[in-house]
Amino acid sequence: MKAKHLLIATATLGAVAGLVFAVLMRDFSQDAATGPWSADIPQAEVAEQPAAPPAPTFDPRFRSCAHCHQAGPGARNSSGPVLTGVLGRKAATTDYPYSKAMRAAGIVWDEQTLRNFLKAPQSVVRGTRMAFGGMSDADMDGLIAFLKEQDAR
Ligand code: HEC
Repeated sequence: MKAKHLLIATATLGAVAGLVFAVLMRDFSQDAATGPWSADIPQAEVAEQPAAPPAPTFDPRFRSCAHCHQAGPGARNSSGPVLTGVLGRKAATTDYPYSKAMRAAGIVWDEQTLRNFLKAPQSVVRGTRMAFGGMSDADMDGLIAFLKEQDAR
């Protein structure tokens, strides 16, 4: 092959590769702009969102409980008992199917008992079915405030 042909072949290959790359990048950037993970939602779309606040269960202070519990207006028993009004409530007094351990606990969920329970559930109610890894004091402050707000509604 002559040097000139080689040059043309190389240039052609380069152009094709460049084109493929450009198309791929265009698709990628379109996905990034329209995909659900897009960070920059246009302002107009944000403004059209309903103004209603998120359901209380999705309050960040309740995040570590929301997997198993509901609290607030319309809350019901789910995989754990409903937590609306839990402060001051006697343990195992909703129609949730509690463990034997919880039914026998004979405690009232005052703030301190609840804090102790959330730090180490088994140390307060040995045999409870609540599988929970414990919680920091700071997170607990937010959570207790959240629960009080739900009770006051
Ligand atoms: C993995 C699921 C799970 C998570 C997460 C969880 N719980 Fe529970 N919780 C349960 C279950 C199940 C029970 C019932 C336990 C039993 O009957 O022994 C329960 C029971 C309780 C009770 C007793 C309620 C009553 O009516 O006597 C309280 C209070 C409670 N949870 C608070 C919390 C809080 C607050 C959080 C978040 C910090 C939390 N739980 C996180 C599953 C969970």
